Amino acid sequence: MKDRGNITDLLNSKDSDELKALIDDTESIRRQKIGNKIYLRGLVEFSNYCDRDCLYCGVRNSNSRVVRYKMDQNEIIAIIKSAYQQGYRSVCLQSGETDSAAGVIWLTDIVKSIKDINSGTDEQGIGITLCVGELSYRQYLELWEAGAHRYLLRIESSDRVLFQKLHPPAQRYEKRVECLEALKDIGFQVGTGVMIGLPGQNAEHLVKDIEFFQALDVDMLGMGPYILHSDAPLSRTKARSILDPYTTTLKMIALARSLMPEINIVASTALQTINPEGLKMGIRAGANIVMPVLTPPRYRDQYLLYEDKKHTALQTIASELAEIEYQIETHKWGDPVHYFRRLGKEDPHC
Ligand code: 5AD
Repeated sequence: MKDRGNITDLLNSKDSDELKALIDDTESIRRQKIGNKIYLRGLVEFSNYCDRDCLYCGVRNSNSRVVRYKMDQNEIIAIIKSAYQQGYRSVCLQSGETDSAAGVIWLTDIVKSIKDINSGTDEQGIGITLCVGELSYRQYLELWEAGAHRYLLRIESSDRVLFQKLHPPAQRYEKRVECLEALKDIGFQVGTGVMIGLPGQNAEHLVKDIEFFQALDVDMLGMGPYILHSDAPLSRTKARSILDPYTTTLKMIALARSLMPEINIVASTALQTINPEGLKMGIRAGANIVMPVLTPPRYRDQYLLYEDKKHTALQTIASELAEIEYQIETHKWGDPVHYFRRLGKEDPHC
């Protein structure tokens, strides 16, 4: 196994042969351990209202150029029913952050209605992932009890100093970590992740990120390149990263896959946006999840966390994956093996 020094060198390396060897090695181990199946999470970006002001994000509260929207319950359920017809068995509901009591009750109702879509039949129905930010323990518990079972909350950077440079002082690193611990305690499958190529970020930060993922014993990871948004203040800082966002993301996926073989790792939309080969290379490097965007086209221009965000149709995703001999597994939840292993349970949907 690689030690800290090797990992730092690898992340700093500009040698394309070294990158190729890392991806080839990881790919062959991965095919043996988890095979070539790729699971889908249909992404529904149901609202872009946001109370937070993350310095990198295009839908931050103070960006007055964004036209704010929130879909209604019927619209969300219609999207999910149609996804179900297409073979999706997992959706991810994502939005800007708001911890208002009414907003969480509204979301809890949506989760319950999604669970009802298939109740009463012997099919497993739709798995629900949430990605709606920092909430209280009680609110997470209500969403869990309503039927959500996975939660994504990126740490963005596990380095406290770098984290605080990315967020206003009111958004605290400690709170983010507390939320991740609460989610785990409640029983969620927990996903986190970081952006790569952030101003001021170096290989040592990323090594610490990997150690953070291991210490938290995460079930899922989402890592993607940082991409500028001209309405977000971070795009105007002079500091740059010495790391190449694209190749370093591929390296981080490969390292995560070899160190945490049984977790789910996404080939993020940001990775697909930054390079036309991003989807295929992300999968080859070790990702086993793709999140096609199901948000209706009329909202998409108002959900640009970063510029030029890409949307790839499911058909295109499937044919790109076929080119590299990977296969989309529809009609399955595709939970991470790691989750059941850490709880000492069997996967009921296997
Ligand atoms: N570049 C890349 N990723 C971004 N995100 C937000 N803004 C950007 C950006 N400018 C990511 C964050 C967040 C996730 C929902 O989107 O990591 O957690």
